[in-house]
Amino acid sequence: MKASRLILLVHVLSTAAVLVHAFDPFTTTMVVGIGATLGRTIYKYFHESCDSKWIDFNSTALKTDLEQKLFGQHVASRIVLKAVNGFMSNESPKKPLVLSLHGWTGTGKNFVSQMIAESIFKEGMDSSFVHVFTSTLHFPHPIQIDTYKSELQQWIKGNVSSCERSLFIFDEMDKMHPGLIDCIKPYLDYYDKLDGVSYRKAIFIFLSNSGGESIVQTALDFWRAGRDRSEIQLKDLETSLSLSVFNNKESGFFRTSLIDRNLVDFFVPFLPLEFKHVVQCVMAEMKARNLDLDQDVADQVAKDLVYFPKVDRVFSAKGCKTIDSKLDYYTKD
Ligand SMILES: Nc1ncnc2c1ncn2[C@@H]1O[C@H](COP(=O)(O)OP(=O)(O)OP(=O)(O)O)[C@@H](O)[C@H]1O
Ligand SMILES: [Mg+2]
Repeated sequence: MKASRLILLVHVLSTAAVLVHAFDPFTTTMVVGIGATLGRTIYKYFHESCDSKWIDFNSTALKTDLEQKLFGQHVASRIVLKAVNGFMSNESPKKPLVLSLHGWTGTGKNFVSQMIAESIFKEGMDSSFVHVFTSTLHFPHPIQIDTYKSELQQWIKGNVSSCERSLFIFDEMDKMHPGLIDCIKPYLDYYDKLDGVSYRKAIFIFLSNSGGESIVQTALDFWRAGRDRSEIQLKDLETSLSLSVFNNKESGFFRTSLIDRNLVDFFVPFLPLEFKHVVQCVMAEMKARNLDLDQDVADQVAKDLVYFPKVDRVFSAKGCKTIDSKLDYYTKD
């Protein structure tokens, strides 16, 4: 519960307690009763629950966010909007929605996951129905794989049992143990129910850098051929993505049969970001901080980042990451 709500609740209950003190036993019982009911109502009103008051998909908000806040990702933006719109408008989906977001570092994969969460849950990423797993953080020791497996399964089952519209975000999917990926497979499949629980309304988002290099290669080919970035289509990326990701023996993600069984509904490629996108990111950050928008500073911040390939300096090595701290350096005396 947010601090402001808690303060309000404490205030109401303490007012009730003061009133109780001032009355005889009968009145006291009545006031305590009213206080408790009031407390419960207030609690229910402010406490997030698994219903339409707290979970209400806003397609327009998602569209606006993707169009206005996400830079340089026309392919990803289109797929995400279509996928989430389609899934959320289907009253009885046959399986949960499974999205796999791929791309170079700092290109907006977590950012987009956050937008999706915000478009569905009133509380956004703070919602108790949004769950983020980071492989290296939550599952660091391969030796404990069996414990992780059962914990993860219990966790997914428990959360979906309490709210069928749960969102799971698996970060660093490429570093996840194949055994763990295997154990979540049943939940992604076309089952009506597993152990009495239906997973069909849940959403799973996988984030990884795998395929990033081949996406960069395609973007670079377009750039070298003098073609506009906006001409890049999903089909241009799919082939190279599938060759580098799906046939990559190193990638834990794809040594599993997630792909063979078609459990992933959409592969979403994120393009590497260019100088102009980084400038946009800096301007957005200035706006978020209520600073005066200064194009010169934005250019300067963007110029000081590292770009690759070394000779052409086309793409930002860290995408729009680290801009926060860089901007501090330029704007603080
Ligand atoms: N395409 C983008 N448009 C606008 N802002 C972006 C974009 N990409 C990244 N950013 C900004 O940079 C921050 C970091 O990006 P994000 O965490 O989404 O990267 P990522 O793709 O998940 O990287 P990694 O692979 O390293 O985890 C975001 O919070 C956002 O502020
Ligand atoms: Mg990330």
